[in-house]
Amino acid sequence: MLFLSFLAACFLSQAIWVTASAVEAARPPKGFVSTKGSSFVLDGKPFAFVGANSYWLPLLLEQSDIEATFKEMQGAGIKVLRTWGFNAINGSELAWAKETGLTYYQVWNSTEWVLNDGPQGLKRLDNIIDTAGRYGIKVILAFTNNWVGYGGSELYVNWIAGAGNTHDVFYTNRKIVSSYQRYVRTIVNRYKHSPNIFAWELINEARCSGDLPSGSSCVPGSGLLHSWYEEQSNLVRSLDPHHLITTGGEGHFYWKEPVGYWLNGTWVSDYNYNGVAGEDFDADLALKNIDFGTYHLYPQYWYSELDTPGSNFTIKAWGLQWIEEHARAAKKANKPVVLEEFGTSGLDNKTDIYPEWVDRALSTKHAGILPWQFGMNGLKESGGNRLIKYADALIDGASPNDGHAYYKNQTAVWSVFTNAARVQRSRSG
Ligand SMILES: *[C@@H]1O[C@H](CO)[C@@H](O)[C@H](O)[C@H]1NC(C)=O
Ligand SMILES: *[C@@H]1O[C@H](CO)[C@@H](O)[C@H](O)[C@H]1NC(C)=O
Ligand SMILES: *[C@@H]1O[C@H](CO)[C@@H](O)[C@H](O)[C@H]1NC(C)=O
Ligand SMILES: *[C@@H]1O[C@H](CO)[C@@H](O)[C@H](O)[C@H]1NC(C)=O
Ligand SMILES: *[C@@H]1O[C@H](CO)[C@@H](O)[C@H](O)[C@H]1NC(C)=O
Ligand SMILES: *[C@@H]1O[C@H](CO)[C@@H](O)[C@H](O)[C@H]1NC(C)=O
Repeated sequence: MLFLSFLAACFLSQAIWVTASAVEAARPPKGFVSTKGSSFVLDGKPFAFVGANSYWLPLLLEQSDIEATFKEMQGAGIKVLRTWGFNAINGSELAWAKETGLTYYQVWNSTEWVLNDGPQGLKRLDNIIDTAGRYGIKVILAFTNNWVGYGGSELYVNWIAGAGNTHDVFYTNRKIVSSYQRYVRTIVNRYKHSPNIFAWELINEARCSGDLPSGSSCVPGSGLLHSWYEEQSNLVRSLDPHHLITTGGEGHFYWKEPVGYWLNGTWVSDYNYNGVAGEDFDADLALKNIDFGTYHLYPQYWYSELDTPGSNFTIKAWGLQWIEEHARAAKKANKPVVLEEFGTSGLDNKTDIYPEWVDRALSTKHAGILPWQFGMNGLKESGGNRLIKYADALIDGASPNDGHAYYKNQTAVWSVFTNAARVQRSRSG
């Protein structure tokens, strides 16, 4: 009906055509998520969610395991899945990858990668995105990784710039930037019409340093990540007018007023607040084509030197402040904010800390909350046991556990997230 009256209007005058088509372009197609102030909007109604991180779903081999996992997510009230839109290998790994069934999308044998869009490649990602949709779940896809895991930015540096280069070359070398952009085009063009995509993510956890050390072009005040985010988000917007775009960053601040801590009687400026890590959360979120903010939360690892008995540092308190500062910054920017990854080790720590972190994220109106990471029991492929890559394995039917996975059998932690999903649902239309 809308479409007919729109067409009729077009016959009336050229001027109305221009106005109407501008409005149509601004309005997202049905099933696409957009933003309004600090909220997400889906089909005209507010949309808030608890999500799942699972990089391992596209690595599974059996459709029944994939379906079982989505069913478990759906049962937990999960509305958004965040996974990797990349899986790259070196040519030297190819024979082994084929033999073991490893999922791979890019093969590096020379200064350019070769796409694998076959059944062991992007067809598997197609399947995840399709299946997600059948369970009412939308997908956040990251284009690459700051880290070498599953073939991130260091492979671009190694193969294009060569050994001996620093990590920041990923953001500055124009051949690397265009190689990355070739991949971005591949992924965005493949899925840009799909309502099953929630958002594009430029890179997981951009930092000045990666597995390679940082170099001189990425220092506080250089604005290197900021300008890289700007260029890449503009590119994605030019390819896809409708899907949301975000950084995928850890949410480092670059504040003039120092935030710090005491270590053995010495005051230390906190690298997550002083720009040393690389991002400038406030400025990055202000970019025209960054639609919402993301940040991550792992104080146990980031401040292991403070996490000692007798120290007045606590993981919980540091996290609560980090959550509040991002809520404040997002409110100022008038854009949604998503606590996109967080974790602590051990079930006792999770049981003790997650309720307060999640409560604080809810009370500060976070539009999305995604713990790292979703765990699934009862997987059947390969008899429930399979080595995937690195230390990732299925063990007795359990999905990979880096110490942060939580499973349905861990009822206290599980219910923190199912309860939060209920709250988010009550805030959605
Ligand atoms: C791929 O090759 C690069 C060097 O070209 C090496 O640094 C890296 O460790 C290799 N990655 C994997 C996953 O084998
Ligand atoms: C890459 O090189 C390996 C040997 O290292 C070879 O087996 C493979 O076929 C090559 N793959 C591509 C896509 O060029
Ligand atoms: C701080 O003091 C403790 C105990 O005196 C010592 O073990 C530790 O190495 C010191 N840390 C640093 C970073 O100096
Ligand atoms: C932590 O202890 C240091 C002394 O080592 C002190 O200066 C600082 O104010 C204390 N911080 C808090 C939050 O109590
Ligand atoms: C819980 O956290 C404390 C403090 O970070 C750490 O020392 C301990 O090892 C953790 N417990 C487990 C089981 O990982
Ligand atoms: C829950 O499942 C995980 C993964 O299989 C397992 O490691 C853990 O022991 C189980 N916990 C309980 C309380 O059964």
